[in-house]
Amino acid sequence: MSPSAAFYEDVWVVVDDGVYEPSDDTFMLCANLGIALGDTMLEVGTGCGLVAIVAAKAGAQVVATDQSDLAVQNAKKNVALHNLDSLVEIRQGNLFDPIHSDEKFSLLTFNPPYLPGTKADTAFDPAWSGGEKGYEITEKFIAQCSRYLHADGRLLLIQSSLSEPEHIRTQLKQQFHSVQVKEEKAFFFERLLLFLARKPIQQP
Ligand SMILES: C[S@@+](CC[C@H](N)C(=O)[O-])C[C@H]1O[C@@H](n2cnc3c(N)ncnc32)[C@H](O)[C@@H]1O
Repeated sequence: MSPSAAFYEDVWVVVDDGVYEPSDDTFMLCANLGIALGDTMLEVGTGCGLVAIVAAKAGAQVVATDQSDLAVQNAKKNVALHNLDSLVEIRQGNLFDPIHSDEKFSLLTFNPPYLPGTKADTAFDPAWSGGEKGYEITEKFIAQCSRYLHADGRLLLIQSSLSEPEHIRTQLKQQFHSVQVKEEKAFFFERLLLFLARKPIQQP
């Protein structure tokens, strides 16, 4: 297969083979970024980089990470194609490993691998398989996320009705003073939810 293209409004990107193709979850995240003056954003799991590029075009300074080498190369290529190298920095690694302990952001986003699936499954794909229950990677992310946010920072997190979103809401409430569902939409085999969590509870 050859690379394909994906669009959100007037922003286009190239999507390389082996990299998550932007979909309804990506577009839900893009539509709800709400970038404000001075926002600094960390996107975990950037894939081809579309969300990071949309945020940068709206005025955010962005760090975007992915554990996949293919995704990192793809995102770097798209950032360069949009001449956004001064606004978007792409780093490789698992969850927060590529982030320095003293780095903090005003906005944190993650469209995680959220569907149930393990390496034992033939259809396993690390871009969307989040573990046996679907939420295992998200749980690890939530446990660490608050320390990378400013005191008035916010988190946007995609989840699916297929991976126990109420369990994730409970986890978020242990880390944030305010948790709400910002958008929820039904698609043909699942409901997608976008959690908005504010005011991280500072961990000792
Ligand atoms: C559902 S895709 C979302 C991609 C892109 N943000 C979007 O919305 O189109 C999930 C992305 O997270 C990455 N990913 C999966 N597990 C990760 C981890 N533990 N740390 C960092 N990135 C991860 C995958 O490689 C994939 O690019």
